[in-house]
Amino acid sequence: MIDFLAILDGLTKFFLIFSFILVVILATKEALTGEAPYIPSRFKTVLKMIDIAGDLKDKVVLDLGSGDGRVLFLCAKRGAKKCIGIEKNFFLYLFSNIVAQIFFKNKVKIIHGNMWNYSIKNTDILFVYLLPNTINKVEKKILKEFKKDKIIIISNRFKFPNLSPTEIDEKLHIYKYVVTK
Ligand SMILES: C[S@@+](CC[C@H](N)C(=O)[O-])C[C@H]1O[C@@H](n2cnc3c(N)ncnc32)[C@H](O)[C@@H]1O
Repeated sequence: MIDFLAILDGLTKFFLIFSFILVVILATKEALTGEAPYIPSRFKTVLKMIDIAGDLKDKVVLDLGSGDGRVLFLCAKRGAKKCIGIEKNFFLYLFSNIVAQIFFKNKVKIIHGNMWNYSIKNTDILFVYLLPNTINKVEKKILKEFKKDKIIIISNRFKFPNLSPTEIDEKLHIYKYVVTK
C-alpha cells in the first residue's frame, strides 16, 4: 500500500484519499439512489474521454453532475478556455470549489445546483456520467437548448437513446456524439 501511494503524485494522492473518504460518507441509501449517485469516473477513463473529445483549446467545457471536479480539472490542465461543473451535492461542490479556487482560478467554475436549472447553450464540449434515465432527459435538454453550430458530447458508460455515436471506446465504454444544427 505504501509503495503504491509512493508512485502517485501529490494531487492524485489527495484525490484518491479524499474520494475514498467521500464514497464512505456518501454511501448512504439517499446518496446511492436518485438521478445519479456519486461514482467518480476512473482517472484512466477521464483521460481517455478527454482524448476522444479532441482539441480543448478555446473550448467551453461543461460537466453535468461534476462530482469531485476531476473531469474539469484535467480539462483545464489540457488547455480548455473555461470549465464549468454543476453539482447538487453540497460536500462535493465545496471540495471541488476549494480545489478550483486554489489551483484553477478563472478557469474552473463549480456551481452548486440542479443541472436541470442550468442551460447548456454556451457549451462546446459536454461531459456526462449519469444513469440511463437521466441520460434520456439530458438528450432532450441538449436538443432543446444548444445554440452553437456544434456540440460534442462525451458520455461515460451509458449511451444516449436516439443519438448515434461518432466514436466508441468499447473497452472503457465511452461514447462520443457530435450534434450539429
Ligand atoms: C456518476 S457521478 C459523476 C461525477 C463526475 N462527472 C465524474 O465523471 O467523475 C454523478 C454526479 O452527478 C451528481 N448529480 C446527480 N443529479 C444531479 C442534478 N440533478 N444536478 C446536479 N448534479 C447532479 C451527483 O451528485 C454525482 O456527483
